[in-house]
Amino acid sequence: MRSYLIDGGKPLKGTIEINGAKNSALGLFAGAIMSDELSTIENIPNVSDINYLLDSITMIGGTVKRKDKHTVQISGKNINPEEIIDYDCVKKMRASYYLLGALIGKYKKARVALPGGCEIGSRPLDQHLKGFSLLGVKTNLKNGIIYAEAKELKGANIYLDVPSVGATINIMLAAIFAKGTTCITNVAKEPHVVDIANMLCAMGAKIKGAGTDTIEITGVQRLHKVNYTVIPDQIEAGTFMIGALVTNGDITIKNVIPKHLEIIKYKLEELGATVIFDNDTVRVIGTNKKQSIRLVTAPYPGFPTDLQPQMAIACGLAKGTSIIRETIFEKRYAYVDELSRMSGKMKVSSDSLIIEGIPQYQNAIVSSPDLRAGAALVLAGLNAEGFTIVENIQYIERGYEVFDEKLRKLGANIKIIEGQTSEDIRRQIQKERFKIIK
Ligand code: UD1
Repeated sequence: MRSYLIDGGKPLKGTIEINGAKNSALGLFAGAIMSDELSTIENIPNVSDINYLLDSITMIGGTVKRKDKHTVQISGKNINPEEIIDYDCVKKMRASYYLLGALIGKYKKARVALPGGCEIGSRPLDQHLKGFSLLGVKTNLKNGIIYAEAKELKGANIYLDVPSVGATINIMLAAIFAKGTTCITNVAKEPHVVDIANMLCAMGAKIKGAGTDTIEITGVQRLHKVNYTVIPDQIEAGTFMIGALVTNGDITIKNVIPKHLEIIKYKLEELGATVIFDNDTVRVIGTNKKQSIRLVTAPYPGFPTDLQPQMAIACGLAKGTSIIRETIFEKRYAYVDELSRMSGKMKVSSDSLIIEGIPQYQNAIVSSPDLRAGAALVLAGLNAEGFTIVENIQYIERGYEVFDEKLRKLGANIKIIEGQTSEDIRRQIQKERFKIIK
């Protein structure tokens, strides 16, 4: 087991740069396999989710050439659509299901294992399947595998009951070569939906309206190669912005798109932080006089659910009672019990989290329940005085490139330790004569 060992209680100060958006890169890879030419995608983050999806593409015959850790070349030329993208792939990385839309779009055929539930709650595919069906695709579920097949793909009017990011991207991919025009209404407007549409357009697709409530796709014959650069990661930037407030620090974050961070700026300012945008840079100055807030997660441009756990850590340090309502994923409070070991005072009530502010977290051994909650626990550890251990950091490594290295650049005392059990780790720490409180 890999864990972070944090000697906290110091403000984060300095400048870091944000990597490319993981969630965007995943959709861009699916888009790239829709051409038989070799596309180059730059600014990809070097995180494990990225490698899992690239492995899935290789497994079905696609060409993947890693030029360096942030650049990949992809072609869909030799893909065999009969190959099954099995449960092991989808389990490791849910976004493997983007290959479903891409393969349907390109070959009118796909075989992808149905992803199960996951640690943040149930994630149905009904909207994806509804969209495929309206395009003329027949889907069959056999032994956990979705078999999708169409004689012909025909443009259709599709209304999404929820503005699902995955369904928007998957249906958009499936409709690229469909005959006529597809109109998808109530779509997701997240920055990475727009990024993926932009790349597909640069490859020759005809897509209008990405970033609004309706996306219109007019079928084309083929896509050509592209050289494309992934947008900066909104969630990684947001995590560091919140980190500045949680540690009462002063961080400048380079390579951001301020528009994508507006809602995060507003909520951090309500809590008491000073947030300054300047071209592609944001500076966040923390305060130890934080005010309680209300926060509701919502699809973009609302407050992202992927920053809800990190924001709860900041609210936990505010004077008075804050209330967070999670409207996207029902199991996204898995960090609350862990945080109570750090003296966090939070209570889940239905879809809400009621948070009573405390002056500072206490150090403890905690376990990362999922990607974003893991990052949130690291922020709490950076606030706490003394040694905190955050176990199971393989979740955090799915989405944050060199998280510890970037935090060290900001003055944090954090390092990776390895051991099979908590006991191993404790022994390792004692060997280093660190004092820990369990
Ligand atoms: C994407 C992001 C994830 C983020 C989430 C919400 C990627 C790879 N992942 O996940 O990091 O947390 O958006 O911003 O981009 N739903 C249905 N039926 C469906 C599909 C979704 O009811 O067919 C519901 C889900 O249960 C959830 C909501 O819609 O309540 C949003 O899910 P969705 O936007 O699809 O999330 P993902 O695309 O899985």
